[in-house]
Amino acid sequence: MHSIVRQAVRTAVVAVATLAVAVPSSASTPATSAGASASASPGPGGEPLRRAAPRDLVVGSAVAGGGHHEEQDYPDPFPNDRPYRRILGEQFSSLSPENQMKWEFLRPTQDTYRFGPADDIVRFAKRHRQVVRGHTLLWHSQNPAWLENGDFSPAQLRRILRDHIQTVVGRYAGDIQQWDVANEIFNDDGSYRQENIWIRELGPGIVADAFRWTHRADPDAKLFFNDYGVESINAKSNAYYALIQEMQADGVPVDGFSVQGHLSLKYGFPSDLQQNLQRFDDLGLETAVTELDVRMPLGESGEPTRAQLRQQADYYQRFLQACLAVRDCSSFTVWGFTDKYSWVPFFFADEGAATLLTERFEPKPAFGALRRTLREGRPD
Ligand code: XIL
Repeated sequence: MHSIVRQAVRTAVVAVATLAVAVPSSASTPATSAGASASASPGPGGEPLRRAAPRDLVVGSAVAGGGHHEEQDYPDPFPNDRPYRRILGEQFSSLSPENQMKWEFLRPTQDTYRFGPADDIVRFAKRHRQVVRGHTLLWHSQNPAWLENGDFSPAQLRRILRDHIQTVVGRYAGDIQQWDVANEIFNDDGSYRQENIWIRELGPGIVADAFRWTHRADPDAKLFFNDYGVESINAKSNAYYALIQEMQADGVPVDGFSVQGHLSLKYGFPSDLQQNLQRFDDLGLETAVTELDVRMPLGESGEPTRAQLRQQADYYQRFLQACLAVRDCSSFTVWGFTDKYSWVPFFFADEGAATLLTERFEPKPAFGALRRTLREGRPD
């Protein structure tokens, strides 16, 4: 009985798929809308996350491209993978370029900018009524060799950063909801990271300047500090808490504090997350979750167990609940929505399965858990 039903469904699915191929779509139809309603299309059915969310929360995803993707044998994901694009447009109301606005990507040489892929993301976002998080302007990582190995004087370096911010932020002015102005500037013990070329060569005061320049170039964007390992109240998040208060006292335009949220089932859930976000909210800041994924150790099979997937769903759900419980936590972003393109297996040995959908875009328990929690909305 069951298998007959399944067979019938499969036949119907094939019929719809054939039909979708047979009917030419008009040239003006965006790729993303093709087959959007066909049950044959891969991806989660039912209400999209963005529609389940309360009005005052955007739900985002990183947009796969650049970085580790350039070393894979698949084509550049965002421009080429049609089901991927469709799901990205359907499910999410915010986009974060995963690598396409980083220095190494935007600045192949000192005199050139490569804006094409970032422009494409911004255009896609407009067409799908999505906001964009800009990522990132001042960071120690993924900088081009000409910058890291260049023999610049402090005055030259300062000018290079200021020009970059004016050019990049200016180009997208009005199109970016939140900028990660400064990314990962502190070590775990709360000291400034000396690998950061700007901080090392120019001193920590450069951070406030970066915020001022960004604000001047786009007065409407909300300006954020972003980091990992700051989900809890600890030495690193305390360093942000202190620095932000100093900046506020000095009249520096800082609007937000965001936690990346790269979790592993190995390390447990940061149980004081809500309390931590709340103390930044109490400073009058917006808060955000910007890069959530929940990885897990995978055994020989390379597949997660059901128990792991349940625990993963629980972590995603609790992370979202913490954000919902904090008034100005208004942006909740996952670092990719499919294992097909996740950065995790390339950066964390023997871990994976970190996102909401499998490589074949099948929803995991975490997807349903997020949707249910979004529907519940904010606590009273
Ligand atoms: C990662 C990307 O996902 C990879 O594609 C890239 O190779 C390396 O960087 N914190 C951040 C993100 O702020 O920019 C990082 O993204 C993940 C950790």
